[in-house]
Amino acid sequence: MLSGKHILLIVGGGIAAYKALDLIRRLRERGAEVTPVLTRAGGEFVTPLSVSALAGRKVFSDLWDLTDEAEMGHIQLSRAADLVVVAPCTADLMAKMAGGHADDLASTLLMATDKRVLIAPAMNVRMWEHPATRRNLATLTGDGVLAVGPNAGDMACGEFGPGRMAEPLEIVAAIDAALDGGPLAGRHVLVTSGPTHEPIDPVRYIANRSSGAQGTALARALADLGARVTFVTGPASVPPPQGVDVVAVESAAEMLAAVEGALPADAAVFAAAVADWRVAGASAQKIKKGAGGLPRLELAENPDILATVAQRTEGRPRLVVGFAAETETVVAHATAKRARKGCDWIVANDVSPGTGIMGGAENAVTLITADGAEDWPRASKAEVAARLAARIAEALG
Ligand SMILES: Cc1cc2nc3c(=O)[nH]c(=O)nc-3n(C[C@H](O)[C@H](O)[C@H](O)COP(=O)(O)O)c2cc1C
Repeated sequence: MLSGKHILLIVGGGIAAYKALDLIRRLRERGAEVTPVLTRAGGEFVTPLSVSALAGRKVFSDLWDLTDEAEMGHIQLSRAADLVVVAPCTADLMAKMAGGHADDLASTLLMATDKRVLIAPAMNVRMWEHPATRRNLATLTGDGVLAVGPNAGDMACGEFGPGRMAEPLEIVAAIDAALDGGPLAGRHVLVTSGPTHEPIDPVRYIANRSSGAQGTALARALADLGARVTFVTGPASVPPPQGVDVVAVESAAEMLAAVEGALPADAAVFAAAVADWRVAGASAQKIKKGAGGLPRLELAENPDILATVAQRTEGRPRLVVGFAAETETVVAHATAKRARKGCDWIVANDVSPGTGIMGGAENAVTLITADGAEDWPRASKAEVAARLAARIAEALG
């Protein structure tokens, strides 16, 4: 299964570093090539000699080793692998990754890589439960980093609880899954996200408060499951995820054209907050204050992107999912919207100001399908995205 796969293995400075030796052995037994990187603290727990003997190749540890840069630069080292694995991933390494530090070889490789990263955290239970580690984990999973473990159990420090590194064979299974392609491999999923900007004149526009965070998290979660994702985004305030095809648009009309241009797709999820109206006959020049009195803005209805795609007779994606941002009688409105638009599912959320959902980090949604309404507990947008992506994978079979 892992034959010919190339793993860049970063070994951090924790007691569980000894298990990294067994991990190297297991990976090589399965045909993988392992390039080991030992942090300075990692080298306090296992020797470079034992790591290189098991890996059958040189251990890298110093960013400033000019011979290594001549032979293989740190950028190349970070890109040559199929997957980057950090085991054990200490609290310190998690903090560095979440903060974007690049002050030694391991952290620089983690910043420079264009490959998936899998971490196997290992630390004392208090360190694992510390709010800083919780925050760092949320940031990392939001960034698309995969994690295996930790497990609960007796710890080397004498305490009990979660913090023990996953066993080498569990890490091997997670590596297999990460390289396998996932349940959406070979599927094309279209995701729209962000607000639209409807021009009034060349410098002014009508917009809404959507940040694009939920659509971005969803695109990332679908890509994590192996889908080829086309991400059609309005001017969002969060950056698009890596590993998806980004099509940037401004207005609803441009978004519809981009969506139609991206079809066919196996599934389409319309998470964008598309403006219902645009300014009819937007001015080609900046409207001047003064003589003519107050400008009169006449509105025209925008195309309904969700309904247009859901009601296609030819080339309709197998699964069409709309989002409904409501401020009152959420489920009733969203259920009616599902019937009116002809889509398969509606993900409804209450975006009243008191919920903090629009532009916030969390979401509380109700999934409306032909079988009825399902309330999901309030969770981070990344968790909601992961759950929805898993449901989409299940529906596409
Ligand atoms: C005996 C000993 C055991 C340690 N075990 C762990 C551990 O399991 N997990 C952890 O996060 N830090 C552990 N630490 C602390 C780390 O070694 C320390 O934070 C170090 O800076 C991490 O370096 P790294 O970023 O290269 O992993 C331990 C320290 C000592 C002295």
